[in-house]
Amino acid sequence: MTNKKFIELVPDEKPGIYTDRLGLFYAKSVKQDHKKANGQYFTPVAIAQLMASLTENNEQHIRVLDPGCGTAVLSCALIESMVSKNKKLKSIELVVYETDLSLIPYTQESLSYLKNWLQNKDINFEYIINSNDFVLENSDCLSDHQNLFSSNMKPFDIIISNPPYFKLSIDDKRATAAKAVVNGHPNIYALFMAVSARLLKDSGQLIFITPRSYASGRYFKLFREYFFKIIELDKVHLFVSRKDTFSRDNVLQETVIIKGTRKEKTDPNHIVHIYSSNGLKDIDSPVKKSFCLNEIIDLKSNEKILYLPTNDYDENILNIFKNWNGYLNKYNIQISTGPVVAFRSLNYIEETYRNGTVFLAPLYWLHNVKQMYLEWPIIKPAKGQYIRISNESKPLLIPNKNYVFLRRFSSKDDKSRLIASPYFSNFIDAEYIGVENKVNYIYRPKGHLQRNEIIGLCALLNSNLFDSYFRIFNGNVNVSATELKEIPLPPLEKIKEIGDLLIQKNDFSIEIINQIIKQQFELIPQYEEN
Ligand SMILES: C[S@@+](CC[C@H](N)C(=O)[O-])C[C@H]1O[C@@H](n2cnc3c(N)ncnc32)[C@H](O)[C@@H]1O
Repeated sequence: MTNKKFIELVPDEKPGIYTDRLGLFYAKSVKQDHKKANGQYFTPVAIAQLMASLTENNEQHIRVLDPGCGTAVLSCALIESMVSKNKKLKSIELVVYETDLSLIPYTQESLSYLKNWLQNKDINFEYIINSNDFVLENSDCLSDHQNLFSSNMKPFDIIISNPPYFKLSIDDKRATAAKAVVNGHPNIYALFMAVSARLLKDSGQLIFITPRSYASGRYFKLFREYFFKIIELDKVHLFVSRKDTFSRDNVLQETVIIKGTRKEKTDPNHIVHIYSSNGLKDIDSPVKKSFCLNEIIDLKSNEKILYLPTNDYDENILNIFKNWNGYLNKYNIQISTGPVVAFRSLNYIEETYRNGTVFLAPLYWLHNVKQMYLEWPIIKPAKGQYIRISNESKPLLIPNKNYVFLRRFSSKDDKSRLIASPYFSNFIDAEYIGVENKVNYIYRPKGHLQRNEIIGLCALLNSNLFDSYFRIFNGNVNVSATELKEIPLPPLEKIKEIGDLLIQKNDFSIEIINQIIKQQFELIPQYEEN
């Protein structure tokens, strides 16, 4: 392979920089559809260097894996960093996986350049480029939890990866092969992480850059259980801005880098350092916080959510929630998802009110739910505000009682993730109501929610306090009923007290709510930059 085929060589160029240029050259030559289908977004060299700097290793011989390697920018950055830090280093074995056959000549070019560079430093370098699917080839190592090294692959000292990201269907070959870590629709990146965790030596290190969506949510629950049982987190770097990190590829992801160590048993008191920066521009001056492992992930809990607090304000919030031991169920309150799936219920949904011939109930949609109030009706095309009451539609309706409605999704532009409105049965003279599927409703199955409970709960959900808590573990825009079932709540008396205070003031603005909640829970001021 001649250099001229791709790009001109620059004398004394570092392998990472050369590879980054190769990657840019390749990325320009392929269409967006090709990148999407392969989950192909190359790591900018500054991020690759940051990832590389997170490891430490003093061995003479090192075995490295880079699954989903692209042009191998991560391998190059890692090896450069090891060469400068580890003076004992004599030889490196590198295995990389890449399924895009049109990209592999660039990978080959990059690794032969790296080999030359290492030769000049008297370091022996052997590499293998494997074009098979990384998950399919190695997923058998996932099925045996007991046997540490059940894979045929010789284990690695360091695994570094920016894996592909895309959702797989439940019946995708890779999802089936990795079923030990899959519930529902998996994202391929989590399969890369789980398989890699198994391919590490004991005390081997892994560095991954991925979306942060695995931190919460039921689709990743089995994955979290599996992964964090054998990987002890050491360092986390969170990119707070969605736009900045991979801006040259237009990727809008909240991205996180983790560095962890393979352990037979993780230590709950192990210290984890959490760094955060907005994106690339402030990458060298991150905010740093340190926590015990069990403060950011409780492996005994049901959901095993990974919390990523990044500053004093977040820490203060985690401490407030940690001191609460209430939750919805404890107060005989439940949360369910609206049963009216609009596209399946078109026969029953009506645009306008008709009296006499049919019986109609109001139908509440996501757009009717506003912070602290329900706006209904709102006339919008294809969003009928009524639903017929008939024998067929009755299973979809719920009794007209007191509820808190909560949107199941927020948009990226919404200021708050949690948008909740109070609902009182006297809002409308009806026996039944319809709640659309993108709305969750909170209720007391046996009995009624009282006015102060509804206002107090709604105020908490809409507050900055809850929004910030939510953001510490949830990087996406979904608000799942399961997460809310587990969310810690203050004592019921406190919830009612907040409700009473607001009712007395007769001012339900978010500003007043935040003031009251700040006083009630001794919340420290939020940083300006947040
Ligand atoms: C997000 S890109 C990252 C590339 C490179 N690691 C970097 O950081 O620039 C992921 C790469 O994985 C490759 N890939 C996708 N699916 C794969 C699979 N199942 N096995 C191995 N590689 C895969 C893609 O072609 C793509 O080049």
